[in-house]
Amino acid sequence: MKTILGLIASPRTLGNCELIVKEISNHITEKHELQLLRLQDFNIKPCRGCYTCLFRSKKCVIDDDYSQVLTAIVNADALIIAVPTYCLGANATLKMFFDRCVASYSYANQLWNKPCVSIGIAGINGMEGSTRLDLEKFTSLMLFDNKATEILYSALPGEVFMNEKNLKKAASLGRALFGERLQDNGPACPICGGKSFRFLGGDRVKCLLCSQTGYISMESGSPVFDITKEYGIFTSREEAQNHYLLLKDKRTEYRVKRELLNQIIQHYLDRGNWIKP
Ligand SMILES: Cc1cc2nc3c(=O)[nH]c(=O)nc-3n(C[C@H](O)[C@H](O)[C@H](O)COP(=O)(O)O)c2cc1C
Repeated sequence: MKTILGLIASPRTLGNCELIVKEISNHITEKHELQLLRLQDFNIKPCRGCYTCLFRSKKCVIDDDYSQVLTAIVNADALIIAVPTYCLGANATLKMFFDRCVASYSYANQLWNKPCVSIGIAGINGMEGSTRLDLEKFTSLMLFDNKATEILYSALPGEVFMNEKNLKKAASLGRALFGERLQDNGPACPICGGKSFRFLGGDRVKCLLCSQTGYISMESGSPVFDITKEYGIFTSREEAQNHYLLLKDKRTEYRVKRELLNQIIQHYLDRGNWIKP
């Protein structure tokens, strides 16, 4: 029996995110128990940027519920992730959790290739902004095997199932979780499969998922990307490990540069008046 974790980033009880997670689970081919976790039920504080989690105990020093959520993810065989679009992107609740991801690196072996599907729900057709990219970033940096990302449109709670197409998508996502990755033959980054790009001028482009740059040209009316990999962090297990080591090396670098850095920051110590709560 598999354990499926429905990771829900919407605060709305029986909102569209919760409903789609439950409907997707109806179509999972493997026998499973569906566990549900609403991120808003947990006290997740912002990352402090201290990197303590890379050293010593390998645990985050913040006293909150982060490790409880991470443990649920680690223990699950697969995940269904659903987030609402707020202000043209995935809502901040998911990002708050995501920003703590350095603390999850010590679980890289358990997270690597964990199957997931990810869904963004936006209220207005076409107004999801960066939600797809936000989900792709989340699933990539958490080292999951993201079988598909879908953006569905519905504003009112329950409205997601007033559209037959959404029910069909839920079914195919459920089948994909332990099956073949859903094919999307549209233009994509040849390195990471990302589908969001920034135009850098001329024919130069940057993939906003893996951050590599390259060139775009048109062949038979379709865009073709020529992108070279300079640095990778999530397209192989080895890359993830190397990135982890790079972050750890920063401590050694900090020790060497500390005096110089202290001299720089001293000049800014007394500038401005802080407004405190
Ligand atoms: C603060 C806030 C901001 C929102 N911003 C957007 C938006 O930028 N684009 C959009 O299409 N829908 C937006 N919505 C609508 C939600 O994405 C939509 O209602 C969705 O169904 C919510 O999912 P839920 O029922 O699972 O909470 C916003 C909703 C809220 C509450």
